[in-house]
Parts: sequence; structure tokens; C-alpha cells
Amino acid sequence: MAATGNQRILSGMRPTGQLHLGHYHGVLKNWLKLQNEYECFFSIVDWHALTTDYEDPSAIAENVWEMAIDWLAVGIDPGSAKLFIQSRVPEHAELHLLLSMFAPLSWLERVPTYKDQMEKLTNKDLTTYGFLGYPLLQASDIIMYKSSFVPVGEDQVAHVEMTREIARRFNYLYGREPGFEEKAEMAAKKMGKKNLKLYKQLLTSYQEKGDAEALEKATALIESQQNISIGDRERLIGYLEGGGRMIFPEPQALLTPESKLLGLDGQKMSKSYGNTIALRENPSSVEAKIRTMPTDPARVRRTDPGDPNKCPVWSLHQVYADDDLKTWVEEGCRSASIGCLDCKKPVIDAVLKEQQPIRERAKEFQEDPEMVRGIINEGCEAARDVARETMEEVRQVMGISYR
Ligand code: TRP
Ligand code: SF4
Repeated sequence: MAATGNQRILSGMRPTGQLHLGHYHGVLKNWLKLQNEYECFFSIVDWHALTTDYEDPSAIAENVWEMAIDWLAVGIDPGSAKLFIQSRVPEHAELHLLLSMFAPLSWLERVPTYKDQMEKLTNKDLTTYGFLGYPLLQASDIIMYKSSFVPVGEDQVAHVEMTREIARRFNYLYGREPGFEEKAEMAAKKMGKKNLKLYKQLLTSYQEKGDAEALEKATALIESQQNISIGDRERLIGYLEGGGRMIFPEPQALLTPESKLLGLDGQKMSKSYGNTIALRENPSSVEAKIRTMPTDPARVRRTDPGDPNKCPVWSLHQVYADDDLKTWVEEGCRSASIGCLDCKKPVIDAVLKEQQPIRERAKEFQEDPEMVRGIINEGCEAARDVARETMEEVRQVMGISYR
């Protein structure tokens, strides 16, 4: 997809504990790439953490700062991405409330994560209002910034889908200002004769023949207009789609490629499986964890040959080893010419090497908490500027702006 500088991305992570190498290889490396291609907002969503940890929120504050340090340590650049804490932009709560007025209960009840999590997290009482509203709060995070894309894992796609429906419903309910059609016609005229004609043609092919390409072209045409206001642009896009003025664009999920890095037991790396290596785990612990990781159970004695495909160490080699090393492992394992500790050594070295610069950068931030606070403050301010503007518009179109 072509990267355009003015497209926004928003993503968030719940501060529920230490980040691990699975997060790094999945989510964070993806963010590192995206921050150079889009205007990115990355949010530490502490309210979302509270939906499950409300009974004992004591760890949230520390997790928030540790998460900020983790992000910075891997190279998220506050010079290009805005890093902020959700609760420091209270406009999110206001938008969540306003969305809740028209969000159908059934939409929330049918989100697959809702029942899933209720069944899985049996140690917590999640029959709460806040937990049901979790995806709606997420929707408010996303549309607040009029984001085009939301980088998320597979498990979050349903939430982005619901966000699209919420945006669409909002536009439908509140985008039909008095005299909408006339205003849209007026706006179209401001594009100049030639563009007006093109716009009308594209509009007809889309609305009469469902030509998706025409829709895309017309949208691009509108977006390339320099001398029309944002409001007019929203009207033109809404008019084109046959709805109201497009106040919130419908965001798309940008599926994060699954991390190839599996956990110490060969399952997906996850805190709940207890098979993780933390992003900033200390070196002796990394070494101990890898040395004691299970291997192919057939290799009881050093002289027993094995099969890498039955061994979780092999999955780590997939991420870290070059072809020569992989050949060495395959041959050595199957012929029992290497022992499992020999085989693990290069993995240990590679993980330590990967973590070293991260650990060093993290240390600088840990030693200077004021710097971290400063970076986050700036991110919160930048996010808030956008949020304030969005809420002005929202209150106005909903008819609750009393000026
Ligand atoms: N629900 C997301 C998760 O658990 C976290 C999240 C909250 C989020 N708000 C968001 C992700 C907005 C993307 C965009 O991973
Ligand atoms: Fe696994 Fe390597 Fe041992 Fe083979 S030699 S079982 S791949 S650790």
C-alpha cells in the first residue's frame, strides 16, 4: 500500500506486565517500520488494563513506565511517533461515553473476545459494564485520531471491524446536517469545473454501478484538493458514499505478521504459558532459561540422534541462525555429532546480542526518569491537541456544543 504522509496510525498496548521477545519480533519491529511511513500514535492503554485488573490496580502505574521504557529502548522514536498514556487524554472517556449512547448492546455482546475472555480469565469477575465496553473504548481510541490504519494481531481484528461499524453509524446519525446535499453540491463546485465534472462522473459510476475503482479515484481526487476546507472534504466523501458527512473515516486493520519466535516450550510465546524471555531479561537468566529448555525427547543420551523438527530450540534457530548454522544444526542433531548444549550456545549468543543494545538504551532511560516523563508529556500533549479538536467537532455535530 502506498505510504502517504498524512495518513494516521493508532495502536495501543495494555500495560499488564513486562514485554517479551515475542512482542519485539511481532508488534514492536512492525511499529519501527511504520513509524517511518505514517504519522503514528502509540498509546499505553491503562484504562484497558483496568477493565481486567480493577480489583488490584497496584501494578498498572509501574507497568506504564516500564512499557514506555521498553518502547523507547527498542527504538520507537518520539521525534516521529507520538507516545502517550490513554488516561492522560481524558477526551477518550468523553468519546467513549458519547459512542455508548448509540452503540447497540448486541454489537458488544457478539464480539468474540468478550465471551472468550470471560471463559478464560476465570479468576476474575468480568461481568462488568467496563469489560463489556472494552471494544467501544478501543473504538474511541482509534477514531479519535481519524486513523486510517490500526496495526493489530489477528485477535484484535473483530474490534477494528466493530470500530468501522461505529464510525459508519456515527457518520450516518450525525453527518446528516441540515442542508447536507446543498452543502455538498456547493463544496463540489469549489473544486473547479474540470474536477467537478470528473467528480460527478465518478460518483455516478460508483452509485449506479457500484464501481469500487471509481470510489477510490473520487476519494483520491477529493483528498488532493488543496483549497477546500476539511468540513467540505468530509461532506464530499460522505456524499460520494451516499451517507452523511464523513466525520470519522472507517479505519482498517493492518494485520501484524505473526512473530516467528516461539516460546521456550515451542508454543506461542506468551506470559500465560510461562515460556517467555523478557525483552530486558538479565543475561544470566537468559542463559539459564535456554540451557534448560526442552529438546527432542528422543535425545536422552548425548549419543542418541534427534530430529530438529521435534525440538523448540530449532524454532529459535529459525529466527536467529544463518543458513550455514542451520545446516550445522540439522546434520549435527540427526547424526548426534553435536550435543544439545552445543546447539543451544549460538542461540544464547544471538539472543544476548540482540538484547544488548536494547538493555543499554533502557538503562539510559531508567537512569533518567525525567527524560521519559518529558517524552511522554510531549506525546500526551500532541495526542490531546488532536483529541480536543475531534471532540469540538463531535459535540458540534451531536448538537451539544453550547457556545
Ligand atoms: N485491545 C488491544 C489489545 O489487547 C489494545 C488496544 C486498546 C488497542 N486500544 C487500542 C489496539 C487501539 C489498537 C488500537 O491488544
Ligand atoms: Fe534440539 Fe539442537 Fe538438541 Fe537437536 S541438537 S534436539 S535441534 S537442541
